[in-house]
Amino acid sequence: MLENITTAPPDAILGLTEAFRQDPRPNKINLGAGVFKDEHGATPILASVKAAETAILAEARTKAYMPIAGDPAYRQLVQEMVLGAEHPALRARRVRTAHTPGGTAALRVGADFLKKACPQAAVWLSRPTWANHRGVFSAAGFAVREYAYYNHAARSLDFEGLKTALRAVPSGDIVVLHACCHNPTGVDLTAEQWAELAALAAGRAWLPFVDFAYQGYGQGLEEDRLGVLALAQACPEMLIASSFSKNFGLYQDRAGALTLLASGAAAADAAFSNVEIAIRVNYSNPPAHGALIVTRILTDPALRRQWRGELDAMRTHITGARQRFVAALRAHGVPGDFSFIARQQGMFSFSGLGAAQVQFLREHKGIYMVGDGRINVAGITAANLEYLCQSIAEALS
Ligand SMILES: Cc1ncc(COP(=O)(O)O)c(C=O)c1O
Repeated sequence: MLENITTAPPDAILGLTEAFRQDPRPNKINLGAGVFKDEHGATPILASVKAAETAILAEARTKAYMPIAGDPAYRQLVQEMVLGAEHPALRARRVRTAHTPGGTAALRVGADFLKKACPQAAVWLSRPTWANHRGVFSAAGFAVREYAYYNHAARSLDFEGLKTALRAVPSGDIVVLHACCHNPTGVDLTAEQWAELAALAAGRAWLPFVDFAYQGYGQGLEEDRLGVLALAQACPEMLIASSFSKNFGLYQDRAGALTLLASGAAAADAAFSNVEIAIRVNYSNPPAHGALIVTRILTDPALRRQWRGELDAMRTHITGARQRFVAALRAHGVPGDFSFIARQQGMFSFSGLGAAQVQFLREHKGIYMVGDGRINVAGITAANLEYLCQSIAEALS
């Protein structure tokens, strides 16, 4: 039975990490997967996480199962982080949250739930988007369509194209939006654009499914809620997939959450009972460790302060890396205006490098980036900046 199956292609992003690992060149650079790196190119455990983890391990008394939807304290903390503790939807008791293994499982559980709730709907993704969005929603059985997002020539948001596309989305379809730090472009909507988009969503009655994988990496923890809050004000129903992989650095511990807003408390309960079934048949109940860390940090005032400082430092480091990169490209006489890189938000930048240049950099220089020219800006360090810019200059000449 297993002899006739053909080999699947490697994952576009994680496959790159594997190829990088096997590359023997000492000056190789990995600008592929979205993992934060400090000025030494390391992905350290946050000090707040280490402290929380130590306390949790000392106090742990059981490995009994978590509830299907996870620990209630964690779920409430997530709601407060995503919407703000005073949000009217929380007071109206029409918000439900499930702890999921990372943001990917939040997307998949949400997708499975929606396939049951609205089986005829199509799912709309930005063009371009994180490659796994198509994989997740297709695997859940959805037809996947695209809406315009990025203007390659202007290296900016194609807001007119986006509105035209989303005005044509049929009522009852599902639109996936990036809350902030759009992956892969780094280009986000302004407050005015979010307000317009939210009005459009409400008017057309499509369902927003917001991917919130980088809360705190854009402008700040509260500031990055902009889009979520605009949509929550305009639309009675929405889904939000949170990931704590980046903002707590918990990549391998798989901490995330699916939050749903329904029109009222009873509708929220009914919907959530189906979310729990989607979880039960997928992985039964979530892994505890990452969520225990998040809960500990968010409920301990000193740890929370420490974590906020560490999160701010990660964001500032990336902003600095963007500016240093733009200046160094200019200093190396690399043709073109790269100032747009400093205006983008989050870990990623659409560098504008084409497939041939990406391939040249990988084969001849040991510099790895995603095929569409997406680079993880956090991978640029003082030690590799010179080599990177020289190599890009060569690739472009
Ligand atoms: C846009 C986007 N959504 C979701 C995820 C998934 O995050 P997690 O690792 O928590 O599953 C990522 C991770 O890279 C991402 O970039």
